[in-house]
Amino acid sequence: MTELQDLDQRVLWHPFTQMSEWDPLVIAEAAGSYLIDTEGRRYLDGVGSLWCNVHGHRHPVLDQALRTQLDKVAHSTFLGLSHPPGIELAAALLEVVPRGLRRVFYSDSGSAAVEIALKQSFQFWQLTGHPHKQRFVRLVDAYHGDTLGAVGVGGIDLFHRVFGPLLVQSIPLETPFQTDGVAVLAKLAKLLETSGDTIAAVVMEPLIQGAAGMLTHPPGFLRGVEQLCQEFSVHLIVDEVATGFGRTGTLFACEQEGVSPDFLCVAKGISGGYLPLAATLTTEAVFAAFLGKRTEMKHFFHGHTYTANPLACAVGLASLRLLQESTLANAQQRIGELSSTLARVRGWRGVRDVRQRGMMIGIELSSIEGRSLGVEACVHARELGVILRPLGDVIVWMPPLTLSADELQLLEQATHEAIECL
Ligand SMILES: Cc1ncc(COP(=O)(O)O)c(C=O)c1O
Repeated sequence: MTELQDLDQRVLWHPFTQMSEWDPLVIAEAAGSYLIDTEGRRYLDGVGSLWCNVHGHRHPVLDQALRTQLDKVAHSTFLGLSHPPGIELAAALLEVVPRGLRRVFYSDSGSAAVEIALKQSFQFWQLTGHPHKQRFVRLVDAYHGDTLGAVGVGGIDLFHRVFGPLLVQSIPLETPFQTDGVAVLAKLAKLLETSGDTIAAVVMEPLIQGAAGMLTHPPGFLRGVEQLCQEFSVHLIVDEVATGFGRTGTLFACEQEGVSPDFLCVAKGISGGYLPLAATLTTEAVFAAFLGKRTEMKHFFHGHTYTANPLACAVGLASLRLLQESTLANAQQRIGELSSTLARVRGWRGVRDVRQRGMMIGIELSSIEGRSLGVEACVHARELGVILRPLGDVIVWMPPLTLSADELQLLEQATHEAIECL
């Protein structure tokens, strides 16, 4: 064990980690799709540093954007002040998001982006004479982050059961995974018809529920939910924290169904995977409800110290341009190749199911009682030079969108070998 590994074990507490079994791998550097540890060993970043890396590591354009901003100001508050990168990124985002979204409210994590949407929706109904619209509808197995508001609309029991008594309860709706979604939409229609006057919003991940194990939705489901929300005057909050910024093959997943939600939550890829940044985008109608004299106290009381950090916004602006110029096209090419790769994966021994939306892939293993196959496979993959992180028995592929054809081959080979070892 190196000195740093020893120090890590003595001073740190890592997220989502049983520390009694913790064996630190210390990453000192990175380049392109690779992470490099303190001993100089290289690993393919198969999960894009927890689903946020878009253009690979140390991209010269992003590095330069960061350095240029660093020569101006690293941080200045957005409470009471503004700054060029925050303004320019917001304007650029509004050019590319679904048409109805006109306002950008920044924060610093996906969880915060979702909490803000919940609070804005809630307050909107209070401000507009519908004080009983207080409840939220969410999908079973949904994941929207780990802060209490986000957990309240989440449904992954394994992560959040213990916090049950602390949560604001939400209304669960079956996930349409492996169905045509018609029955779920019918159930939602009934719920909104009978109780819509007490419901503020439906909150959901579009096209695919990532943390649930890459559960894909049938085509038209998102559009169906949008139509019902419009019919019964209930907000639609779409959480694109995982799917946003090219991950599903289009800049935003909503585009694939022509959906324009009342709230769009983004984080992860917004800064290319460089710095903590998030945003909640909403419509002019929602924004306008909060307008009035300061003394009326209608404004939105929410903000974080690092809201709209200028370094993060500057790199976010460079990242968005790069996505449009080249990275999205590269992702689309890889997604095309992935269909033949995944056809092979489906035939591997021990693989039960393979699910994909663009560059979000879940490889589900046939479970064996008493074994954590996902974890075991990822340990093997690391020995073969590929970093993966499972969701239960599902191995996730979520590499940078700049992944090359050769790197995809390495990802496939290492995953295959790791599964063969089980
Ligand atoms: C769909 C979705 N929403 C929200 C979050 C939470 O984001 P963060 O970890 O930045 O708080 C995640 C994280 O994986 C996510 O996948």
